[in-house]
Amino acid sequence: MKEGSSPVDEVSSSADEKDGAVDEVSSSADEKRMPVKGLGEIHPDVARVLFTEEDIRARILSLGAQISADYAGEEILLVAVLRGAVLFIADIARAIDVSVELDFMAVSSYGFSAKSSGVVRILKDLDDPIEDRNVLVVEDILDTGLTLKYLLKNLASRHPRSLEVVTLLQKQVEQKVPISCKYVGFEVPDEFVVGYGLDYAEKYRNLPYVGVLKPEVYG
Ligand code: PRP
Repeated sequence: MKEGSSPVDEVSSSADEKDGAVDEVSSSADEKRMPVKGLGEIHPDVARVLFTEEDIRARILSLGAQISADYAGEEILLVAVLRGAVLFIADIARAIDVSVELDFMAVSSYGFSAKSSGVVRILKDLDDPIEDRNVLVVEDILDTGLTLKYLLKNLASRHPRSLEVVTLLQKQVEQKVPISCKYVGFEVPDEFVVGYGLDYAEKYRNLPYVGVLKPEVYG
C-alpha cells in the first residue's frame, strides 16, 4: 500500500455512507460476517469486503459515462482477457452508450508464472482484425503490469486506431513495468483479492463483491 493512503480494513467507507447499502459494518472478525444487503453472509474464506456490489455498480456507471464521453461519435472494440475480466466486461459494456463490440483473448504463461516471467503465450487470439479500430482492453486487475505490457505491445503491432486500458482494480504496488492505464476503477492494497471475476485456484470468481482472502486459505 502506498504511504499516506488509508488502509481499507472494513467494508469501504463509500459503501458505508450509502443509505441502506450495507446493513452492518464492524471491525471485529466475527461481525464482519454480518449480512451485507443483497449479498447474504460474507464468504467464510473472505477476511473483509473492500468493495460491495453497489460500490462496484456505481463505479462502473461512472467509468462508463467517462468512456462514453471520450469516445462520443466513435465505436469501441472491448477486448477482455479471459478469464477474470469476464464479469467486468459484461457490466462495463452495458454502462457505455456508444456502439461497442466484444472480443476475447486467452493467455497463459510460459513456465510457472506470467507474473514473474512476463512471457505470455496466446491460447486464444482475437476473432477479428483490429486495424484502424478503437481498442479498449478490459482487465480485472493490474498488478505487476507484465501481462498488459505483453498484450499492449502485441495489440499495438496490429495498428489499431487507438489503444487504451480500463481496469477495475489497480494494486497499490510499484509496477515492474509502468503501464499507462487510462481508466481505473479502484486502487486496492497489495493483498490477495478475490471476487467479481478474481479467483484463487479458480474459486470465488462468482462473489458479487471484491474482498481480501484470508491468508490461511492460500498459505
Ligand atoms: C490476472 C489478471 C491479469 C493479470 C494481472 O490474470 O486478470 O490478466 O493477472 O497481473 P500482472 O499485472 O501481474 O501481469 P490471471 O493470470 O490470474 O488469470 P485469470 O484472469 O484467468 O484469473
